Amino acid sequence: MISDAQISPSAIPYRVLETPEETARAVAELLTDAAAEAQRAGRDFSVALSGGSTPSAIYRQLTSESLRGRIDWERVKFFFGDARSVGPDHPDSNFKLAADHLFTPLRIDLGRVFRKEGEDEDLNAAAARYEKNLLAELPRDDLSRPVLDFALQGLGPDGHTASLFPGTAALAEDERFIVANEVPQLSTWRLTMTYPTLLAARHVIFVVVGSAKAEVAAEILNAPEGAGVYPAAKVRPDSGQLLWVMDREAAGKLSGGQV
Ligand code: 6PG
Repeated sequence: MISDAQISPSAIPYRVLETPEETARAVAELLTDAAAEAQRAGRDFSVALSGGSTPSAIYRQLTSESLRGRIDWERVKFFFGDARSVGPDHPDSNFKLAADHLFTPLRIDLGRVFRKEGEDEDLNAAAARYEKNLLAELPRDDLSRPVLDFALQGLGPDGHTASLFPGTAALAEDERFIVANEVPQLSTWRLTMTYPTLLAARHVIFVVVGSAKAEVAAEILNAPEGAGVYPAAKVRPDSGQLLWVMDREAAGKLSGGQV
């Protein structure tokens, strides 16, 4: 580990690890700790998985001999922060990534996995169904928001997270918890959790790896508090833990002394 948790100028707590694998291990351990916290409190552990390529290293850690036994997997409910407009067997599917690298190795009962149906012709209907499931499966906070135990967030080079892309309609959604979101820059539609859902979570952990994220990570972390036009900069849980876990490459442009 290069650093304990530090606070950036934009008031975002972060930790820097030497390598992508150490970063994945640190995130897997945070997830394991959060699961133990939930299960000690007598509730199933609810986790929203992110997409992209970074999570596979985290799944590898979670299924490792040293970690897999630390969680009672039969008391875990799996959700997804977002879904692409593809079916569950498509190579780009966030569900498929988790199924191949986490659910199958751990023999997870897929009845405890809540997949966003990104392939649905009517994504608004799919979003409404998913929101209904989310509300049925999770406790609510005093703002009637569904409370996830753990939201695993990635970061795109443009500062998006989940499928909250810059300039898209979902950024303005302050009531619904899941929406269909048009992403013109990718000429596609996505299903995504919205800020209300992410801000209610008990633990919001960003995993940021690789030099391709260094520029945007520095702009977000180095910005004065409250600045930041990037969607990921606005994911600050109201009362839950926020932590960015980065490798040295992704932290490479943080202002001096911050690594
Ligand atoms: C998606 C994700 C997205 C992802 C970032 C980072 O479906 O693409 O949910 O928000 O987390 O784009 O992706 P990488 O891990 O591939 O860098």
